[in-house]
Amino acid sequence: MPVKIEPTVSRIALVTGGARGIGAAISERLARDGHRLVITDIDQGALERQTDSLRNAGVTILPVQADHADPDAPEAIAKTVEEQWGPIEILVNNAGITRDGLLVRMSLEDFQKVLSINLTGAFLMSKRCARGMMKAHWGRIINISSVVAQIGNAGQANYVAAKAGLIGLTKSLALELAPRQVTVNAIAPGFIETGMTAVLPEEVKTNYQSRIPLGRFGAPEDVAAIVAFLCSPEAAYITGQTIRVDGGMVLA
Ligand code: NAI
Repeated sequence: MPVKIEPTVSRIALVTGGARGIGAAISERLARDGHRLVITDIDQGALERQTDSLRNAGVTILPVQADHADPDAPEAIAKTVEEQWGPIEILVNNAGITRDGLLVRMSLEDFQKVLSINLTGAFLMSKRCARGMMKAHWGRIINISSVVAQIGNAGQANYVAAKAGLIGLTKSLALELAPRQVTVNAIAPGFIETGMTAVLPEEVKTNYQSRIPLGRFGAPEDVAAIVAFLCSPEAAYITGQTIRVDGGMVLA
């Protein structure tokens, strides 16, 4: 008897930091797959531009300006969504920043700031959204980590600690939430062309490119495709995993 795959259903999906870069590509992809979309971002201008662009394409979208460094943000966001649409069913913890520097020069403030958005922000959003998912016996949480979480990176102690923490968080939440059919997975992108990487010096970019077997930088859409798959009925039996999207940069 073949395993019964549930039909694709339109869900309420929230993408943090969804106004630009990888988050924007994820929003566009989830909208294309028929989900109702909530995007959060700290950048009001970018949020408005992305909302207008998706609305013009016929997407049902709810933008919420938020700072994921603020521990009160998840409650305010979830309440807004619940009042208008209902509980969040798909959560993509994508918002992230870098504050690079070598250990001896890295301030406590820069260390804590990166952790507060990239890791604590994801923990708090997951905690708030898990309630509704557990009740519904269905949910998807996807954390955007990074390949550097698995290999380390000089000059990014704060960022790597946060991204490695996300992988541990993913595994623990996967175990906790599995009995309620909520899956929790992480994606570890390599070098993706966005505003975050555009600011890197040319020689750093050239060095990265030479380490990518597939010979090109990734596009935000390469990451969005994996998010879409993890939200699809076909991925119902995958949880606690970290999927690398890096053109073969890290093979281990
Ligand atoms: P980006 O800088 O292009 O976009 C990040 C978005 O998050 C922006 O719209 C920004 O306004 C928003 N954001 C930043 N701080 C926020 C806050 N406190 N509250 C709410 N929104 C906030 O960056 P990119 O490249 O799209 O990165 C997305 C995620 O992917 C991040 O978590 C990043 O660490 C991760 N990643 C990126 C890689 C790359 O090569 N670009 C590689 C591996 C991981």
